Amino acid sequence: MKVLGIETSCDETGIALYDSETGRMTQSVYSQIEIHAAFGGVVPELASRDHVRKIIPLIQEVLAKAGLQMSNVDAIAYTAGPGLIGAVLVGASVARSLGWALNVPTIQIHHMEGHLMAPLLAQEKPIFPFLALLVSGGHTLLVRVERLGCYLILGETLDDAAGEAFDKIAKLIGLPYPGGPLLAALASTGNPHRFHFPRPMLDRPGLDFSFSGLKTFAANVYKKEVHDDQTKADVAYALQEAIVDTLAAKCHRALKQTGLTDLVVAGGVSANQRLREKLRAQAKSLNGRCFFPPLELCTDNGAMIAYAGYLRLSQGLKDQDLSIHARARWNITELDSPF
Ligand code: KG4
Ligand code: ZN
Repeated sequence: MKVLGIETSCDETGIALYDSETGRMTQSVYSQIEIHAAFGGVVPELASRDHVRKIIPLIQEVLAKAGLQMSNVDAIAYTAGPGLIGAVLVGASVARSLGWALNVPTIQIHHMEGHLMAPLLAQEKPIFPFLALLVSGGHTLLVRVERLGCYLILGETLDDAAGEAFDKIAKLIGLPYPGGPLLAALASTGNPHRFHFPRPMLDRPGLDFSFSGLKTFAANVYKKEVHDDQTKADVAYALQEAIVDTLAAKCHRALKQTGLTDLVVAGGVSANQRLREKLRAQAKSLNGRCFFPPLELCTDNGAMIAYAGYLRLSQGLKDQDLSIHARARWNITELDSPF
């Protein structure tokens, strides 16, 4: 089955073609970073308009790279939410229109399920049920993954997402949008002994997170210092350590609590090398396993949507009516398990 994947939930137009017979994934991602950088964050209307401009040329580009025609596509998977509603609508409308024109099934995909399934594209796969840490710009979730479509939220952020904390402090210290990866790079030159930031919510039971207080703490420390390059690197180091330690400690607690041994980490922040290092070491000490998506599939892309679409389609699921599904908000626990 050849599944076309379409992702437009935020500021990346991601298109991919997954061939389930060969396992070949062909993809292109167009990032709108340059458009939004001048504004210091994503401008929803500009995002929608740019998806409109880029989506068809990108679909043509992916088909050409795969050496295929539109008529070879057997099904279309698209992100139906959660995300910026105008942006989601562009991908959903194109997907449903193409599906109608080509007379092939379409399948709506939850953006976070896409992230969650990306590590399953690797050779060595986690075994259900497993624990998942979903960390992106909009989400920080600890999820018990029973099987495809069956998710139990064990913990979530009460305020800012982990990626948001990275991005906001990056902005404060003058890094361009999106600051998370740049802040992580800067942290590598930071002095480990200069600042120590709190690890939020570790002193109380439970699996929820809160990063807003940590962000304020970091901002207050930074404001009192001279804003030279070393101070910026030292703040970046202390912030990254605090976020990574907190995420790792909650994963440890969740693994102990559930008795699960496989941990899947996905979403943009799963690209963070310090987080990978820490969780790998922790998995080793617990005799468990830890899975990450390949780096190019950590942030938003069409491949994860094509693959999640393939998994759902192969269980006999597809869009049933002719409406265009698009949701700004969508709780992952509302998904129907195909089994
Ligand atoms: O999954 P994603 O592309 O979009 C959302 O669904 O939100 O995640 C983007 C988030 C941003 O907050 C970005 O700063 C963060 O992931 N991110 C990182 C790194 N790479 C991306 N944060 C820390 N370290 C990184 N290396
Ligand atoms: Zn995402």
